[in-house]
Amino acid sequence: MAWNPDQYHLYSDHRLRPALDLLSQVQLIKPLVIYDLGCGSGNVTSFLSKRWNESIVVGVDNSTEMLAKAKSDYPAIEWQHSDISEFDPSSAGHLIFSNAALHWLDDHETLLPNLLNKLIPGGVLAVQMPNNFQAPSHQLLYELAQSDRWQKRLGHLVRPAPVHKLEWYYDLLSPLVADLNLWETSYFQVLEGKNAVLEWTRGTALRPFLETLGDERERHIFEEEYAERLMEAYPQQEDGSTLYPFSRLFIVAQTADD
Ligand SMILES: C[S@@+](CC[C@H](N)C(=O)[O-])C[C@H]1O[C@@H](n2cnc3c(N)ncnc32)[C@H](O)[C@@H]1O
Repeated sequence: MAWNPDQYHLYSDHRLRPALDLLSQVQLIKPLVIYDLGCGSGNVTSFLSKRWNESIVVGVDNSTEMLAKAKSDYPAIEWQHSDISEFDPSSAGHLIFSNAALHWLDDHETLLPNLLNKLIPGGVLAVQMPNNFQAPSHQLLYELAQSDRWQKRLGHLVRPAPVHKLEWYYDLLSPLVADLNLWETSYFQVLEGKNAVLEWTRGTALRPFLETLGDERERHIFEEEYAERLMEAYPQQEDGSTLYPFSRLFIVAQTADD
């Protein structure tokens, strides 16, 4: 699935804020080996590398486009092209960080304990995931993909919400770690530009649907239909901005010392 770094960074200030909120809750003084899973174009990884400038920082992603941008913008950081589901580093992590990536993977019941196993004793797993799957932006997309016209080609892309409730993560992780910090926040995002929510989803949730359609004309029709629904759900304010509340879930889990 191709990613477009430029489209993703259209709202980079809004996308960066939760990553920094997550980072602020990591209390490690000197984590020697840090992995950034689903590092994308490396913007957030560069903050990890700046905060712990003597550490080995490795960005991991399975998108060639995102990694190409990361390598060109931050040549001093180590970048690895691989899938998070196969993450099996030769050195255990002192910190495994993942911002806005793990919701692209299913089966968190297996995934998160596996990631904890890749940490040293006393290591930290820090995760932020969008939890906006019930919002009109996502529900309207799924409804459209499942409508008569598109169901055959796009229906299979609608997956059950990959992110669970905080209570679910508490039950899964608390028996496995010494310290667990879980929280959820809704960011009241004020977006600029015409049909701003469409532009936002173009960088993320809408991508797989357009890519599957392939044909330019069909993409255009699908996007127009989606845009129309979005305009109704997210009308522009009098000052021209669009309000797009966005919920995100955070996990900071520290394993026990030896
Ligand atoms: C929304 S971007 C977030 C990028 C970065 N973490 C940030 O905060 O700017 C999600 C990234 O996760 C990557 N990704 C999604 N599924 C993945 C997987 N199974 N293995 C590796 N990377 C994955 C995508 O390629 C993409 O670069």
